[in-house]
Amino acid sequence: KADPRTRKVLGSLIQHLHDFCRENEITVSEWMKAVDFINAAGQMSDEKRNEGQLVCDVLGIESLVDEITYKLTSEATDLPTASAILGPFWRKDAPIRQMGDSIILNEIPDGDHTHLYGVVTDFTTGKPIENAVVDVWHTAPNGLYEQQDPDQPDWNLRGRFFTKADGKFDFYCLRPTSYPIPFDGPAGQLLQMLDRHPMRPAHIHFIVSSPGHQPLVTQIFDRRDEHCTNDSVFAVKESLIVDFLPREGDPKAQFELKYDFRLVSF
Ligand code: DHB
Ligand code: FE
Repeated sequence: KADPRTRKVLGSLIQHLHDFCRENEITVSEWMKAVDFINAAGQMSDEKRNEGQLVCDVLGIESLVDEITYKLTSEATDLPTASAILGPFWRKDAPIRQMGDSIILNEIPDGDHTHLYGVVTDFTTGKPIENAVVDVWHTAPNGLYEQQDPDQPDWNLRGRFFTKADGKFDFYCLRPTSYPIPFDGPAGQLLQMLDRHPMRPAHIHFIVSSPGHQPLVTQIFDRRDEHCTNDSVFAVKESLIVDFLPREGDPKAQFELKYDFRLVSF
């Protein structure tokens, strides 16, 4: 027996698609181009290239659904930490690292090394959360995630950290760089047809989770990046824009950033 929610949503999708075709008087040859486009995105996808998600993101679907799902986590800094889209490059089961470790596995002489630290708290009680998992990932300065780049070691610039009893975490990473989403496929064609650029502002991804709390999928963005105001996948929220500060007296990092996460309990 059909699930009622599925029935309703599919019915609505079909209705909107039919209305769209009627309104725009879509022709057979235009529709065939769309079929080719969908097939091309599917054929390009594998575990390293999530073209379907890329296409949806360029269309703003993932950021819209994020907003619909997490409407309670908003822009203000005295509210639960705002969510942001997952994007296509998360990998599950990243290596568990020790507090204070670096996620930089290949030494990059000119990389802007950063000490990133903060505390994970329960939003309602304000109490620190012990054993929360901070799962982090970002690109290398060449704009590639480790799985896109044969020159990076496996799991480079990724890791999972467990908070201590005081809810704190800290590790070394790079100050991220802005870069284009992969635009050599259907998502890129779409951007081109819309006269849009493929750039994303420099960002670091996180999934912060703990039993008893809603997992927080989010990203933080570097304020100095001009693309904070025109992200190709519409993920930026004001409260997620951060200021990296110069770090004194640490041979391991030129920059530091404090960022706290406030989780919502179930
Ligand atoms: C997308 C998201 C990312 O975080 C990224 O690095 C590249 C692409 C996306 O939403 O498509
Ligand atoms: Fe990303």
